[in-house]
Amino acid sequence: MTIPPVSGGDASEADAMAAAYAAADAVLARMTVRERIGQMTQAEKGSVTPDEVAAYALGSVLSGGGGAPDVNDAAHWRAMIDAFDAGARRSRLGVPLLYGVDAVHGHNNLHGAVIFPHNVGLGAVDDEDLTERVARATAVETAATGARWSFAPALSLPLDVRWGRTYEGFGQDPDLVGRHGAAVVRGLQAASEDGRGLRDASAVLACAKHYLADGGTRFGSSMRVDRDQLDAAADDPTLANAGSHEAFLEEMARGAWTLDQGMAEGSDALLRRVFLAPYRAALDAGALTVMASYGAWNGVRMHANRALLQDVLKGELGFTGFVVSDWDGVAQLDPEDPRRAVAAAVNAGVDMVMVPFAWRAFQDDLAALVETGEVPEGRVTDAARRILAVKARMGLLDADDEGSLGAAVAPPPLDAVGQEDHRTLAREAAGRSQTLLANHGDLLPLAPSDGPFLVAGRAADDVGLQCGGWTISWMGAAGPITPGSTLLDGLREHAQDAWVRHEPDGDGAERAPVGVVVLAEPPYAEGMGDRTSLALPDADVALVERVRARVDRLVVIVFSGRPLVLGPVRDLADALVAGWLPGSEGAGVADPLFGARRYEARLRYVWPASDEALPLHPFGGDGEPDPPGADDPRVAWPLLHGLTTPSAR
Ligand code: GLC
Repeated sequence: MTIPPVSGGDASEADAMAAAYAAADAVLARMTVRERIGQMTQAEKGSVTPDEVAAYALGSVLSGGGGAPDVNDAAHWRAMIDAFDAGARRSRLGVPLLYGVDAVHGHNNLHGAVIFPHNVGLGAVDDEDLTERVARATAVETAATGARWSFAPALSLPLDVRWGRTYEGFGQDPDLVGRHGAAVVRGLQAASEDGRGLRDASAVLACAKHYLADGGTRFGSSMRVDRDQLDAAADDPTLANAGSHEAFLEEMARGAWTLDQGMAEGSDALLRRVFLAPYRAALDAGALTVMASYGAWNGVRMHANRALLQDVLKGELGFTGFVVSDWDGVAQLDPEDPRRAVAAAVNAGVDMVMVPFAWRAFQDDLAALVETGEVPEGRVTDAARRILAVKARMGLLDADDEGSLGAAVAPPPLDAVGQEDHRTLAREAAGRSQTLLANHGDLLPLAPSDGPFLVAGRAADDVGLQCGGWTISWMGAAGPITPGSTLLDGLREHAQDAWVRHEPDGDGAERAPVGVVVLAEPPYAEGMGDRTSLALPDADVALVERVRARVDRLVVIVFSGRPLVLGPVRDLADALVAGWLPGSEGAGVADPLFGARRYEARLRYVWPASDEALPLHPFGGDGEPDPPGADDPRVAWPLLHGLTTPSAR
């Protein structure tokens, strides 16, 4: 089954791309091979200076997870990025830079930016207009700091929810993932803004990731960490990001790096129906960059997978933008022979290499490979041409009278970051993402007269736990990590004069008519969040039991990046809410609780009843729909489960 070429989506897109390639050719004709290799180079901001960007003609610089300037505010972000861009404009041909960040749920590395629900929550809502508005607001705050490229949307389709990136996926439905991935592309790229699109100063280039089948890996197949060499991992600069080596070893013991960056396998039909289909939707919506997956498909690592990168993505699907590697993903192909790894990746169709640290060695290796013919010069030219064409689509190759490229357009004002209407939007998204799993005796929605309310659990008043990973730091963290409102703030708003008392440990003695216990997964990112078990920690179960004994009716809300195995908590609660990762405006979680809006969200992941049920997904061997039903003993709640409530009583 071949997917018809989608190149250009529609005639206007094809025309715009043709003009962009013409502009690219005009610059390319003046470029040396080294300068073309320069465009293919993306370094991490901590390992390159603006002068080096100029001298080595780098095409891109990025901030990785948590990659903030020394002072983490909008002005310092803008100054940092402007300095790198000025460096690029000082290069011999002055080709402007593309600065990339992971703005995956707001401009989430930036302190004070509005943090939106992660995709797992937006998928539960399934309103493409909301998703697009969230992406648009994200783009405005991202572009205000000078960053014009976000490594989003993730088109991940997680089959095993023990994966630490499950929350970056919209759900276990290729149509849902494609529709919302396309909505993110439109929102980021200002597709609906008075026709300026990518040339709009607030437009941010999207990046469909991680191609391909990143969410399909087999438990235990991760290639990222050698479990027999855990001490060596202490020297790994990326894993060092996780904090202390002891913390790393503890996470490894809980299952870190068992799924992420692993091996996926299956039939071509499964690959196309489940994993490839969302890319068609994202390309149709105008995505011009695609990030390669660390994983492998049927034994071939994606960063060296010519069949899927060149023949399918660029050939069959007609993708005319460029492929960027993942962080050090090329080097991971062959750690003992970096030059061989570069040849494998570039020859397979990787156009820009995200080489955070050893970017000079990369340039030397690729230049040498062109010299020897192991990488055809034409491949380097094609890669640089694709990158330049995308820059042209953003207006970065427009030449002024003196021939300078990419007349800088004034970005959105710095005070666009954290603006009030974005917070209102984030609160709407947070409230609408709440998924009501159980509501015995129609306990919800609550009324102030139901009080007093005993609220228990640290997570009831913790912005960091609401936001999850990819927030301020790579892994995220508990605590007041960035401005926002908490669920407790929202409860106090709604309960008004009724009594709301917060006991983080729920170890008081007084009774109350209604208890609200809030549980949360500690934040994590990528493979650091892979788990062997999704069972609630004993301490969480004990907290629920303590409060159960003190109240007449009990609500339990769980903030998590994925379905969890709730065990006894399921029967202890009168009402049960999947809160997902609602972001910085957690007061919105209280809105449906008190009927200020209805519960309407639905499960987009099958919810397992036990660890033994995993992996649990709704597909047959060839990717055909085969969802396990509510009567399946492995299932706690099936796909599309979710109760609705009337508005305020
Ligand atoms: C990470 C992730 C990818 C992210 C990139 C840059 O390792 O796999 O999703 O965009 O590096 O931070």
